[in-house]
Amino acid sequence: MTRDEKISAYDSVVRGRRSIRGYKPDPVPRALLCEIIAVAMRAPSSLNSQPWNFTVVTGEPLDRIRAGNTERCLANVPESREFRTSEAYTGIHRERQVEIAKQLFAAMGIERDDKPKRLDWVLRGFRQFDAPACIIVTYDRALFGDDVAPFDCGAVASGIVNAAWARGLGCVINSQGIMQSPVVRKHAGIAEDQVIQTCIAIGWPDEDFPANAVVSRRKPVDEAVRFVGFED
Ligand SMILES: Cc1cc2nc3c(=O)[nH]c(=O)nc-3n(C[C@H](O)[C@H](O)[C@H](O)COP(=O)(O)O)c2cc1C
Repeated sequence: MTRDEKISAYDSVVRGRRSIRGYKPDPVPRALLCEIIAVAMRAPSSLNSQPWNFTVVTGEPLDRIRAGNTERCLANVPESREFRTSEAYTGIHRERQVEIAKQLFAAMGIERDDKPKRLDWVLRGFRQFDAPACIIVTYDRALFGDDVAPFDCGAVASGIVNAAWARGLGCVINSQGIMQSPVVRKHAGIAEDQVIQTCIAIGWPDEDFPANAVVSRRKPVDEAVRFVGFED
C-alpha cells in the first residue's frame, strides 16, 4: 500500500464515521464483534495497563436492559453512573450540545415543543437505539479514582467505532445506556470488580433513518491548537 492509499483509507474511515442512531434488525456475528474489539484493543494505554474489559450483550439480556432503562427513565429515577459527572454543561459546551440536538431533531422532524416526540427520542437512547447489540465498556476497579483508566477506555472506544465503521457497521457511544448502571450490571452480569464506564450501541446502519445522515460540526483546528516554538 502506498503512503497516499494508507492516508486515504484511514482518513475516509475517520472523516466518514458518524454516530448511528437507527439500525437494521439483522444480528452482528460474534466473530465480527470479536474482530472489531481485537483491532480496537491495539489502542495505547497508560503503562500498557489495558484496564478495559467488554461485555457484549444481545438478545434477551439486552431486551431486559432496554426495558429496565425505559422503566426507570419514565419513573424519573435519578441517574446512577459509576463515576463523577459534571454539572449540566454551560457556555460553549452547552452551545455545542444544543447544536447537535437541533441537528438531530431537525433531521427527525421533531419540533422544539413536541414533548411526546422528544420523549420518544430520549427513550430510543435508553433502548440503545434498538441496536442488535451493545458493547459495555468497563475497567478494573483496582484503578477506580485514577483518571487515566477512563482516558484509556476512551481510546479503546474510539478504536471500536472506527473499526466498526471500516467494516460497514455503525455505532453510537452513549451515556444514556449506562445512566442506570445497576440495570446494566444486573442484566449483563457485570462483576463487582469492574467499573461501568460507557456503552456502545452497534449494528448495521439503517440508511433510511434520517438522523444517521447528520454530520456533527467540529470547532476549527486553530481554535483547539496552539503551536509553540515553530519557525513557520
Ligand atoms: C462519552 C460519550 C457519551 C455519549 N452519549 C450519547 C448519548 O447518551 N446519546 C447520544 O445520542 N449520543 C451520545 N454520544 C454521541 C455524541 O453525541 C457524538 O459523538 C457527537 O455529537 C459527535 O457526533 P459524531 O459521533 O456523529 O461525530 C456520546 C458520545 C460520547 C463520546
